[in-house]
Amino acid sequence: RDSKVHQNLLEDHSFINYANNLKNVDIVKKRLGRPLTYAEKILYGHLDKPHEQEIERGVSYLKLRPDRVACQDATAQMAILQFMSANLPEVAKPLTVHCDHLIQAQVGGEKDLARAKSLNKEVYDFLATATAKYNMGFWKPGSGIIHQIVLENYAFPGALIIGTDSHTPNAGGLGQLAIGVGGADAVDVMSDLAWELKAPKILGVKLTGRMSGWASPKDIILKLAGITTVKGGTGKIVEYFGEGVDTFSATGMGTICNMGAEIGATTSVFPFNKSMVEYLDATRRGKIAEFAQLYKNDLLSADEGSEYDEVIEINLSDLEPYVNGPFTPDLATPISKMKEVAVENKWPLEVKVGLIGSCTNSSYEDMTRAASIVKDAAAHGLKAKSMFTVTPGSEQVRATIARDGQLETFDEFGGVVLANACGPCIGQWDRQDIKKGDKNTIVSSFNRNFTSRNDGNPETHSFVASPDLVVAFAIAGDLRFNPLTDKLKDKDGNEFLLKPPTGIGLPPKGYDQGENTYQAPPKDRHQVEVKISPTSERLQVLKPFPPWDGKDAKNMPILIKAFGKTTTDHISMAGPWLKYRGHLENISNNYMIGAINAENKKANSVRNVYTGEYKGVPDTARDYRDNGIKWVVIGDENFGEGSSREHAALEPRFLGGFAIITKSFARIHETNLKKQGLLPLNFKNTADYNRINPTDKIDILGLTTFAPGKDLTMRVHPVEGKPWDAPLTHTFNAEQIEWFKAGSALNKIKQDKAK
Ligand code: F3S
Repeated sequence: RDSKVHQNLLEDHSFINYANNLKNVDIVKKRLGRPLTYAEKILYGHLDKPHEQEIERGVSYLKLRPDRVACQDATAQMAILQFMSANLPEVAKPLTVHCDHLIQAQVGGEKDLARAKSLNKEVYDFLATATAKYNMGFWKPGSGIIHQIVLENYAFPGALIIGTDSHTPNAGGLGQLAIGVGGADAVDVMSDLAWELKAPKILGVKLTGRMSGWASPKDIILKLAGITTVKGGTGKIVEYFGEGVDTFSATGMGTICNMGAEIGATTSVFPFNKSMVEYLDATRRGKIAEFAQLYKNDLLSADEGSEYDEVIEINLSDLEPYVNGPFTPDLATPISKMKEVAVENKWPLEVKVGLIGSCTNSSYEDMTRAASIVKDAAAHGLKAKSMFTVTPGSEQVRATIARDGQLETFDEFGGVVLANACGPCIGQWDRQDIKKGDKNTIVSSFNRNFTSRNDGNPETHSFVASPDLVVAFAIAGDLRFNPLTDKLKDKDGNEFLLKPPTGIGLPPKGYDQGENTYQAPPKDRHQVEVKISPTSERLQVLKPFPPWDGKDAKNMPILIKAFGKTTTDHISMAGPWLKYRGHLENISNNYMIGAINAENKKANSVRNVYTGEYKGVPDTARDYRDNGIKWVVIGDENFGEGSSREHAALEPRFLGGFAIITKSFARIHETNLKKQGLLPLNFKNTADYNRINPTDKIDILGLTTFAPGKDLTMRVHPVEGKPWDAPLTHTFNAEQIEWFKAGSALNKIKQDKAK
């Protein structure tokens, strides 16, 4: 049990730490005096300080040391730029970057890939050189989708990984806790800070029975989403158990864990089992499987008698295929009811496009099942009525199904094979078959179907289902079609029923790895120069923020007194701004443009208190900054709720902000502000929000004796009348106060390393 086993076949510097994880678990078990669930064992096995960590599910904040990090190309840019600004020689934990989000589907795999490579050249060059310089693995465009590559190469039972993408939980199919985070969390782990997570509650899902016929693992999560709704998993880990978990493949478990993100779960996980051993063997990682077997009973399974916060039971023997949507993944309709529900709701009945694949559903098993249905239809002389696309999740899957004939089957059916990338799943789809604004229906095997997600058309009714049902809909071209009961007409007009799909879990001839698309970091990294053009519009080197000047801040204007809800989307909008994610100066032009100014109830229109002129928020902030004037923002309740987007904290710091004073903060945004050296502060008396006028000036007093738990003072200077004081509370701990003093968390890390 003490042998040194590598985490994967690609790195020689990362090892599996079961012995240490188990030691930590034993410490925690003694302290808590109770049995642990499997998810708890993984979490607590990765605690930074198991002896002293407070542990109460749903209450305490855990400080963790994940095994590794994975980043996709859109989120990796700012994370790496921030890491670079700390001047550290290499990342503290193994990390890989995956080029999958920036490839637009237009005509088909090869051409689309070539186009993306040229359009995004500067981003890819930056990522390729930065990963090489700082000792990270780089998966080039064309290699596949992050979660599929992680499952094929990096996931192992009992691991804790974080990834800068919401569907990171996909790797729960191999028995690990894989958690989607924002870039700021990735930077923490890259630079050797402990990573913080609120101790999740555990939602147990008990699976009994066995699936058959048209039911597939996707239907388990589609059904569960219908039960829990999109919010039911928030703050929870979904842990599957019961005899049903041993009845299907590891990739099927991956699909279920992937879509756990749709119920808001922190992550989802299956306990280590035989299907995982088979998948590890098939992906040439038999050694890991053998090693995991040695820890199966004490570390890699739930303790007898361990308790879940709640339990939902699903009997697989009764499971029907589901179709979820439109516009939300929790609107679950069993196929037997779809006909009447679709008609009742006046959903467009013609299925315009069927799309299979994506990170959710592109395993060899998914592809062989889909191909079996296509073949059955072809034997009756039928082709796809709808447009039909196939997105392989990885180059390995693509090469294997090309070799084994399934791609040819799809091709004869009329399918278009897209690049190994996100494509239509993330809206990277140059859709030509309809006009924007046309009401229409598409069905995909993806995971999300929010309004406009796939093609930018708010009138597209997007449904998610298993690849099997997507193929069936593509054959019939009609949303009312139920392949379990409805007959089709063959080329001669004779009626027939499609046969239930049959799949092969793992390729009998082994996986074909296809083209080598991985770039390992070189041995000698000193020579590598990170490529960022000084004239680039998409990338910009980040300069460290200046440290605090040691004085109280006085006479600061209020940039904006925000009225009502201010989410991270109001603070730093997504959409077209995504392309500037690696360029802080350019993306800062979206700072608070969605927030409502309390003074005039308008968005992006604030008064410069020195000139009296109304301008956009970012322009006004820049004017202040360029004249050496610090400023503050006043906000309402739960300021910064929404995503963990670190740009929402980087932008105000870059534009010269000093403090953000609100009634309350969303916790992640509050921490992100602290990390960037800003002061998130709260009114002790929330009524003071109403007393403040947008033209008042603000002092923050008490900073020279800034300490945890000790209030600061806000002195307000109205244009007319006497100044008044109000207490401000904060949640800074001692370590975070040092971040403020150093100018940012990264500056502090740099100072510590220099010592
Ligand atoms: Fe990509 Fe869609 Fe998955 S965006 S990572 S394929 S959810």
